[in-house]
Amino acid sequence: MAREALLCICPPDSGGLAALHAALPGRTVLTAATLHEAQCLLDQQPCAVGLLIDTIGRAPDPELQIFLSRHSHMHWVGVLPRTVLDSDAHRRLMATHLSDYHTLPVDPDRLRFTLGHLFGQAALQDDTALPPRLGAMGITGNSPAVQRLRIQIARVARVSAPVLIWGESGSGKELAAQAIHRASARAEGPFVAINCGAIPPNLIQSELFGYERGAFTGATHARAGLIESASGGTIFLDEIADLPREQQANLLRFLQEKTIYRVGATRSVSADARVIAASHVNLEVAVAEGSFREDLYYRLSVLPLVVPPLRERQADLRALADQIFASHAGDAGRRLRGFTAGAHAAMLHYSWPGNVRELINRIRRAIVMCDGRLITEEDLGLAAPPEPAAVAKELGASRERFEREAVTDALRRHGGMVSRAARDLGVSRSTMYRLLDKYGLHGRS
Ligand SMILES: Nc1ncnc2c1ncn2[C@@H]1O[C@H](COP(=O)(O)OP(=O)(O)OP(=O)(O)O)[C@@H](O)[C@H]1O
Ligand SMILES: [Mg+2]
Repeated sequence: MAREALLCICPPDSGGLAALHAALPGRTVLTAATLHEAQCLLDQQPCAVGLLIDTIGRAPDPELQIFLSRHSHMHWVGVLPRTVLDSDAHRRLMATHLSDYHTLPVDPDRLRFTLGHLFGQAALQDDTALPPRLGAMGITGNSPAVQRLRIQIARVARVSAPVLIWGESGSGKELAAQAIHRASARAEGPFVAINCGAIPPNLIQSELFGYERGAFTGATHARAGLIESASGGTIFLDEIADLPREQQANLLRFLQEKTIYRVGATRSVSADARVIAASHVNLEVAVAEGSFREDLYYRLSVLPLVVPPLRERQADLRALADQIFASHAGDAGRRLRGFTAGAHAAMLHYSWPGNVRELINRIRRAIVMCDGRLITEEDLGLAAPPEPAAVAKELGASRERFEREAVTDALRRHGGMVSRAARDLGVSRSTMYRLLDKYGLHGRS
């Protein structure tokens, strides 16, 4: 497998290669004389482990820093003259980017041991913790909720009727809309997204429907609106609940007739855009409150789709966190390895009100701010989950509260008669007396 090859960066005059080959019988070694050559090799095939023979202190530091940051997912070992250790800057670079180092002249046995250890670690990571690829449809995760979502996306992609996506903020509504577009027959056409809440109400009509020359002061030329420019593709209307009522009527006309009137136009033009709308507020409530047209709601909600909140797909947290980490670990400018077990536990315990967007923000901030090589729950700004004993205590306390209330209510309903209250609660009289005793309550025999 390509990742089993060792990449060795070794300036031609360093004389380090002979010792290296002795240390690695049977292993494929790719050699590069410069960082540029190394980059070309890595572009062609990935390697898990890299060796920098006499490179630190010779290659320009900033270039080496950038190179190593870009390849921070690899394990790097330095082989260097002892004098390099005298420089603070080089020691910092080594601490940040290297897994280990050896001083020249190299002891082949020790080097073989180090590299064997790192290849072993890389193989373990390949098998377990590192599946940072995007999932099918660009949606990471395989929880039952996400599998259901993918099936629904594939179904609605087959037709051209409007789709209404509901989901909490940051849950992935736009991602789902893009997935529908890409899986549809319109995939080659444009995907135009507009956030109805972000455009001032007085501009939204001309943005959506376009305008004719002279339609208003400053309209020196005619312009197509976003719906027209999404012809042959999809228009994604995010935060549809924020669309002013007048524009709701115009949108309804478009959905019914597939034509639009540009502002200032006397004739309509046809536009063939599939509409996907999204909202984080419940549109049925908006209809009931009178802020959203009922007829438009029914038109839009032909194919409703719900993107589940992150707390309902906890099984995806690890894959999502790993994928976000892999995409942003380069921002750290030094080598990070991932998350501590405590961080994973804290992520599972947290309720993620801001959903995937919050997860991305917390991980990105942690990547930049963390001190160690592993991101902890503190780096994520999350509280450690309570110990199992504390959870049990909390459960016990709630159970007692509930029990006390149930007994008090039953006694009240039955005028304090213990046997009737016991029958009502479905417990024996002796249990009832034990409960009265436990909670310091009194009843009549
Ligand atoms: N399952 C997922 N896999 C990978 N990335 C995801 C997933 N869900 C959401 N994201 C990412 O999370 C971020 C928020 O998603 P998106 O913008 O689609 O959410 P939204 O519901 O439209 O949010 P808002 O309500 O704030 O507009 C984006 O960067 C998106 O790529
Ligand atoms: Mg959105």
